[in-house]
Amino acid sequence: MANVELQYLTHPQFTWVHAVKAVKDGSTVGSVMITEKRDGSIYLSCFSVNEKFRNQGIGRKILQFTKSKYREKKISLDTNKNYQAAYHLYLSERFKVTKDGKCYVKMGFEPNK
Ligand SMILES: CC(C)(COP(=O)(O)OP(=O)(O)OC[C@H]1O[C@@H](n2cnc3c(N)ncnc32)[C@H](O)[C@@H]1OP(=O)(O)O)[C@@H](O)C(=O)NCCC(=O)NCCS
Repeated sequence: MANVELQYLTHPQFTWVHAVKAVKDGSTVGSVMITEKRDGSIYLSCFSVNEKFRNQGIGRKILQFTKSKYREKKISLDTNKNYQAAYHLYLSERFKVTKDGKCYVKMGFEPNK
């Protein structure tokens, strides 16, 4: 499992946009963007890990760290079942499919469920 430092970043201009990034030896190797929605929940987008560093547990660390920052919040995201690693990871982190569309799936995580 890769040893990375996880950083929570606030946007310099926007109060509702944040990010979590994973840093290894001074370089960013993965990140996710976090947007706060009007209903108080959060929405994740642009989740990715540098290709060279995939399958080392970094994506899971990013997701778990993000969940720990928003303990009481519902989390949603859009993805695609063809993104097999991402889909597997979301399911194993207790995200559930909330809408199964033709080209995408909506998934949600609810704390305590
Ligand atoms: C999704 C992504 C961020 C995951 O990052 P990562 O650091 O590789 O994730 P992890 O190593 O923590 O976990 C990957 C998991 O997927 C599994 N996996 C990898 N390839 C897989 C495949 N083809 N099918 C099913 N599961 C797969 C791994 O076994 C691992 O699960 P495990 O911990 O239960 O063994 C990375 O794959 C990525 O950047 N993908 C391209 C961009 C993308 O799809 N983003 C999501 C858009 S919604």
